Amino acid sequence: MEIYGILGDPIEHSLSPIMHNAAFRALGIKACYQAYHVTKERLRDAIIGADAMNFKGLNITIPLKEIALSLVQADEFAEAIGAVNTISFGHEIRGYNTDGVGAIMALQEAGTDVSGRCVLLIGAGGASKALGYTLAQRGAQISIVNRNYKRAQELADRIGAKAHGFSDLRLLVIRSEIIINATSVGMKEGDPRLFNGKLLHADQIIFDIVYGRKTELLKDAISAGAVAIDGVMMLVYQGSKSLEIWTGLKAPVEVMEEAVRNELSSTMRNKYQ
Ligand code: ATR
Repeated sequence: MEIYGILGDPIEHSLSPIMHNAAFRALGIKACYQAYHVTKERLRDAIIGADAMNFKGLNITIPLKEIALSLVQADEFAEAIGAVNTISFGHEIRGYNTDGVGAIMALQEAGTDVSGRCVLLIGAGGASKALGYTLAQRGAQISIVNRNYKRAQELADRIGAKAHGFSDLRLLVIRSEIIINATSVGMKEGDPRLFNGKLLHADQIIFDIVYGRKTELLKDAISAGAVAIDGVMMLVYQGSKSLEIWTGLKAPVEVMEEAVRNELSSTMRNKYQ
């Protein structure tokens, strides 16, 4: 039996166990994937313990991704982003970041090639960093808007993007081809809009990394006739890349998506239908 898990704080709402266990079943791999509540202070102990207990792999989530970087042998990409979301155990404890690739694959699935496109990235936190590096690597022309301008500037400088404060948001929304919300705004019912949804138009692609609820941003995108992409596929694709790192096998993406969407609808968290 292979053992896997996800470490985070809080962790109880993670959909990763359901998604990965469904994938292992579909691949015929005898494996068990569980969620573990681990605080920042105990992350080192948890990783060393998992190694000692012959875990094959771990996912790392909020707020542990940045600290994990210093505890593993991280690849160049995770190092550049400054965060690890995937760990594999073997001769070495290796760290990777699959969040950005997950997001790009979600955009690709919706028929969007980011190369040469004008992308507005809202936010400059951990998720934005992973997205920003991957978008830059794929040749997107990126503008970053963040409430805290200094954070936007730091990220923009590192990836060759342009930084803006929220005062530029209106203009950027109108002229961008792809708009990505990578802030935490929209995660909770009643969260305000980041901008007036009437600014959106039909030839835009709107991607909100929030999953589990239909955000005001996605509702506005649909009203405008734009392409609206939710965070489910980013979750699924980042997970599929982790699974491929651990097993060397092609991940059953449809099975993973179905497991996530079933869980979201059965817990009434998915308000799309
Ligand atoms: P994560 O790792 O999930 O990206 P994070 O590092 O805490 O989390 O980043 C959260 C992002 O959401 C940041 O860009 C944050 O903006 P600041 O850097 O200015 O804090 C953004 N954010 C959170 N609440 C916000 C709000 N009410 N309005 C605008 N942006 C907000």
